[in-house]
Amino acid sequence: MEPFRLVVMISGFGSNLQAILDACADGRLPARVALVVSNRKEAYGLVRAQRAGVPTLYFPLKPYREQGLDRTVYDRDLAEQIRPFRPDLIVLAGWMHVLSPAFLDCFPGRVINLHPALPGMFPGTNAIRRAYEAYRRGEISYSGCMVHLVTPEVDAGPVLAQAIVPILPEDTLETFEARMHEAEHRLIVEGIRRALAGLAQEA
Ligand code: GRF
Repeated sequence: MEPFRLVVMISGFGSNLQAILDACADGRLPARVALVVSNRKEAYGLVRAQRAGVPTLYFPLKPYREQGLDRTVYDRDLAEQIRPFRPDLIVLAGWMHVLSPAFLDCFPGRVINLHPALPGMFPGTNAIRRAYEAYRRGEISYSGCMVHLVTPEVDAGPVLAQAIVPILPEDTLETFEARMHEAEHRLIVEGIRRALAGLAQEA
């Protein structure tokens, strides 16, 4: 069987992209990365993609904003750029834009997101820091991460995989963050594996 085709969307360091590339390369995922998309030119993930021989697309929002164009125009054009790569699954791995139905409706049920918090907890940006601060205030005793199907609601949608990440009394934000990233690198592979298994069943 042909490997599944992944499009991975990033905005930054790309350590989760690397986990995906590694899992494809060593056979833990029956997939290959067909395209890496970034909305930031300086995203280190683009270097990781190039090193792995994966095509890249840099697609910034700024020119759209400068022309006063509606956000949905960007989303629609972005979908048009991705469509020729025929993705079985689109993985948002540190992608820092909310995608509207103008994008999502082009790939129904095929866009998944990694978020560094448990379902219903800390949607939006800076989730790791907000969880750490909530722990310090005694409001929570652990956090976690999840992979979910993307809906127009931010960091919500049917959950494919989740993992608890403990916060320890001796943790600094940095040590907690490092533990969160380790958990994310495992979970993103598991989330993709489950999403692909679902697609294989549908076929
Ligand atoms: C991850 O913590 C992800 O959950 C969040 O942004 C971070 C991306 O890290 N949304 P990286 O670019 O994969 O290293």
